[in-house]
Amino acid sequence: MRWVWIALILGVALLIHVAWGSLSHWKRAETWQRLASPGALSAAHASLEATCVACHTSVTGVDAVKCIACHANNTSLLQRQPTAFHADITNCRECHVEHQGVNQRPTNMVHTALARIGLQQLADAEKASREPGSGIHVQLLHWIEEQGKAEHGSAGVPSLTPEEAVLRCATCHANEDRHFRLFGEDCALCHGTARWTIAEFRHPSARSLDCAQCHQAPPSHYMEHFRMVSQRVAGKPHAQVNQCYLCHQTTAWNDIKEVGWYKHH
Ligand code: HEC
Ligand code: HEC
Ligand code: HEC
Ligand code: HEC
Ligand code: HEC
Ligand code: HEC
Ligand code: HEC
Repeated sequence: MRWVWIALILGVALLIHVAWGSLSHWKRAETWQRLASPGALSAAHASLEATCVACHTSVTGVDAVKCIACHANNTSLLQRQPTAFHADITNCRECHVEHQGVNQRPTNMVHTALARIGLQQLADAEKASREPGSGIHVQLLHWIEEQGKAEHGSAGVPSLTPEEAVLRCATCHANEDRHFRLFGEDCALCHGTARWTIAEFRHPSARSLDCAQCHQAPPSHYMEHFRMVSQRVAGKPHAQVNQCYLCHQTTAWNDIKEVGWYKHH
């Protein structure tokens, strides 16, 4: 299953059959036992405050196996498109920080870490299946290094890190696509990974006739409802569905031109 996940989230064609070797662990010889806790745990883990070994192992430090032992089978997490990748991941601390105090949720999404984990799993898989240094991951890592040296991010478009650039955004975010696929699958053409809003964006004027180029009408507009309700409410019996501008303002879809706010029911 793992190679499927990686092929999906990384925007590269991976037609390699791989035998998965053991995954690398955090091999730093931590001396955490002798250290004081770096800070209070999050509210969710507060009950583990006295049980350091619930998450830490003397040899490997924070042990993902221990996190997984308590958190496997979280169906809502695995069924939700953006977080479904949890099914195939064996690193946790890259995005789940701890000891930040009870008021801090222990999550910080880091897309660069996500890409690095995917590439590392890919590298491990290739190492197990062929000569080291010959695989696609080497080309990818080389490409990332080159990208890092080059300028990226043109004016107005938020720049991705070179690692982020290998991610296929729509795999995890298609369900959040406000544009009904009208703008394609490559969200990163216009969006960065920190937030969906784009500070530079100025919406076209309410006098624009191009609304339908950027907006998809709801299914009800292609059914009897359009003639029976929409056209009547707007007082535009002859308007075609594609002439959004005849009935709509740019404020909100319920702000109907020359009518005002339309309240359902
Ligand atoms: C719920 C799981 C959990 C428990 C319980 C927990 N820790 Fe941690 N700890 C973490 C995570 C996750 C990190 C990594 C935090 C980061 O990278 O920001 C961490 C980091 C640390 C670090 C910094 C070194 C390192 O590995 O990054 C120390 C020291 C530490 N913990 C000590 C403790 C002690 C002492 C206790 C018990 C009093 C404890 N921890 C209990 C999850 C836990
Ligand atoms: C002994 C069991 C146990 C261990 C070990 C454990 N957790 Fe948890 N964790 C819980 C419980 C219980 C909750 C609160 C209820 C829930 O969300 O399932 C929780 C909550 C969470 C949450 C949601 C918190 C929030 O407020 O959004 C995250 C994320 C999480 N754990 C990640 C981790 C990670 C990463 C590790 C390993 C460093 C870890 N957990 C280790 C039991 C555990
Ligand atoms: C690339 C970043 C990343 C990695 C790596 C990662 N997670 Fe998450 N995780 C997230 C994000 C983002 C969320 C969603 C948090 C939210 O909704 O606020 C999440 C949610 C969770 C939740 C559900 C919290 C809740 O509110 O129910 C748990 C439990 C969890 N992760 C555990 C883990 C464990 C265990 C690992 C390691 C096997 C892991 N995560 C690895 C980013 C990551
Ligand atoms: C493997 C899944 C995955 C991939 C691939 C991915 N993301 Fe995300 N992204 C997440 C998760 C998980 C979150 C945390 C928010 C959540 O849980 O919904 C997130 C958060 C975001 C946010 C912030 C949302 C907010 O309101 O806080 C933006 C913006 C974003 N991603 C853009 C992108 C872009 C652009 C790409 C492609 C370069 C991309 N993502 C690739 C999983 C992914
Ligand atoms: C051609 C450029 C373009 C592409 C491609 C694109 N978007 Fe957008 N998107 C925009 C613009 C412009 C906005 C408005 C930003 C604003 O109001 O700040 C926007 C807004 C959004 C918003 C709402 C932001 C908010 O909170 O108001 C989401 C969510 C979103 N896009 C998701 C996606 C996803 C997911 C993809 C890929 C499947 C994608 N977009 C592809 C240009 C684009
Ligand atoms: C160049 C592309 C473009 C054109 C042309 C355009 N819009 Fe938009 N519009 C967007 C984007 C991008 C957003 C923000 C993402 C979203 O909510 O769909 C947006 C947001 C909106 C919203 C707010 C949606 C909400 O739920 O907050 C309304 C209403 C709207 N547009 C109406 C119109 C109307 C009416 C026209 C024609 C007069 C029009 N738009 C022309 C791109 C465009
Ligand atoms: C004949 C006038 C008319 C035209 C043309 C029209 N609409 Fe509407 N639209 C309405 C009215 C009235 C409502 C609110 C009542 C309803 O659901 O019919 C509405 C509701 C909506 C809603 C909100 C639906 C909901 O479920 O909340 C969206 C989104 C929308 N229109 C988008 C569009 C887009 C995009 C276009 C152009 C491609 C368009 N409309 C063309 C009159 C129109």
